[in-house]
Amino acid sequence: MRILISGTPGVGKTEISKILSLKFNFLYFSVSKFILENKLYTSYDSKRETYNIDDSVIQKINDQINKMDNVIIETIYPSLVDNADKIIVLRKNPFVLYKDLKDRNWGDLKIAENVEAEILGVIAQEAREWFKNICEIDVTNKSREEVVKNIIDNRCDNVDWLSDDRIQDLLIELDKIISLYENK
Ligand SMILES: Nc1ncnc2c1ncn2[C@@H]1O[C@H](COP(=O)(O)OP(=O)(O)OP(=O)(O)O)[C@@H](O)[C@H]1O
Ligand SMILES: [Mg+2]
Repeated sequence: MRILISGTPGVGKTEISKILSLKFNFLYFSVSKFILENKLYTSYDSKRETYNIDDSVIQKINDQINKMDNVIIETIYPSLVDNADKIIVLRKNPFVLYKDLKDRNWGDLKIAENVEAEILGVIAQEAREWFKNICEIDVTNKSREEVVKNIIDNRCDNVDWLSDDRIQDLLIELDKIISLYENK
């Protein structure tokens, strides 16, 4: 059994994955850790503070995953993983995520792009296109134990941050930040 835990940075993938792997005695595999530890990135995007990879890395990631029968896979990008039995996308209220990412002392562009992605459901959309059956869980106001229980019980949420009236103002604020960096 392979369980994929994906979602925007800061939603709790690492913590939830580690709890699940301990609980079920599954292996834990972090795609980003694998890329960094094996220096599989091709370049560093200093504007976004992220690493870039090319397609050849996807094969290496999946070769590694296919060696593991029972594993919890943590990845921001679901489409890096070829197959999994259960696909979870953790979601977090964008206002809460914004505050949490600010606490990480990340750069403004990186924060704004990630909060915007959460608002628009970019990762969930990627997961849906890649795997069809996915389970989204709103982690906002849920304890780690509740999140884990919902994953096990297949109790999924309908998440649509765009239906929140105040979200348009946040999107405008984020767009302003992002456009400041566009010409840099
Ligand atoms: N259910 C929860 N309730 C409250 N805090 C949580 C919960 N789950 C995780 N956290 C906290 O949220 C923060 C982000 O968690 P974590 O590092 O696991 O996120 P992540 O999705 O793995 O981020 P990244 O993509 O950067 O690796 C951590 O400080 C963690 O302790
Ligand atoms: Mg993590």
